[in-house]
Amino acid sequence: MKIAVLTSGGDAPGMNAAIRTVAVTGAGRGHEVLGIRHGYAGLLRGDVLRLDAHAVDNITRMGGTILGSSRCLEMMRPDGQAQARAQLAALGIEALVVIGGNGSLTGAHVLAKDSPCKIVGIPASIDNDVGHTGLAIGVDTAVNTIVEACDRIADTARAHRRVFLVEVMGRKCGFLAMRAGLAAEAEAIVFGEDHLSEDALVERLRGVLRKCFGPDSFKNRALIVRSEGLDLPPGRLAARLNEHLAEDAPGADLRETVLGHVVRGGNPTALDRVLAMRLAYAAVVCAEMGVSDVMLSWEPAFPAGKRTPDPSVWIVPIAEVLEETARMLDGTSEIVKSRLKLLEKVQDLLAF
Ligand code: F6P
Repeated sequence: MKIAVLTSGGDAPGMNAAIRTVAVTGAGRGHEVLGIRHGYAGLLRGDVLRLDAHAVDNITRMGGTILGSSRCLEMMRPDGQAQARAQLAALGIEALVVIGGNGSLTGAHVLAKDSPCKIVGIPASIDNDVGHTGLAIGVDTAVNTIVEACDRIADTARAHRRVFLVEVMGRKCGFLAMRAGLAAEAEAIVFGEDHLSEDALVERLRGVLRKCFGPDSFKNRALIVRSEGLDLPPGRLAARLNEHLAEDAPGADLRETVLGHVVRGGNPTALDRVLAMRLAYAAVVCAEMGVSDVMLSWEPAFPAGKRTPDPSVWIVPIAEVLEETARMLDGTSEIVKSRLKLLEKVQDLLAF
């Protein structure tokens, strides 16, 4: 077969491990493997390269994506989708592996319709906002990066008796803030999914500050990890907390740090590398079997789709992935409800 692979949307550490596995597994099983540069934008231009052993040597440990990525607006329009199908046919591509998040998988699902080319998706998004997968490629590395940054910030916060508001990525999904906040021993974790009003949120955080800096507290710092998806700009939250800081946290001051794209870069953790390899291996096997319009998923909390011989890897129709992703974004998904329930139970213990 002629198999092509592309990376699309926000890059995620571990994408290179997946690219290399598609290339090596594909070649090892007798296929020709092409890489498409810059995601769907490159596909529209027919911008491809041969992924031979040299092209993918030593890339497993690298962050980013050697193929480049893009958020391609043309793919959202019928004429762009028609052009992508035409390019796949012109290049003779029989199977396409799409590595990316929600938008990229939406593109994959559209392409799979009326196309002889088999389309197989692999979830990659540091936000962990892709439905029916326990983890997407890049999440574990991003969590570890945030934890390391928070550990450093906690040192300086303690030295200066400070409140720190640390914003982490996660456009509409608070998972990174939740997991990293717990691991970093944050005193509070705030995210958009619980839809607290601004006043209720400020009141809750003022309570945390009073606890951390009260006369009986041994704490000299308060680390508040907030998700980018919170519907309240960081400056605004800081200003609201500052209004009462002298009263809530006598002698303390407040600083903000936005980690931003720092969270998306860096060498992937061993978990991200191995997860990417196992998903990519299964993707090649799926393509050989003629399966299309599916995504390989990693240890889903609420199993959906079919098992594969790899006990951690499941095959889920992309249509179901997209439906569950929409439920995650509107808060009706069971996985989001269970995350919120857990966080609700532990919130009061964080500033203990
Ligand atoms: O890839 C996901 C993500 O990193 C989100 O967490 C963030 O909101 C967004 O991408 C940033 O996108 P861009 O790099 O296009 O600004």
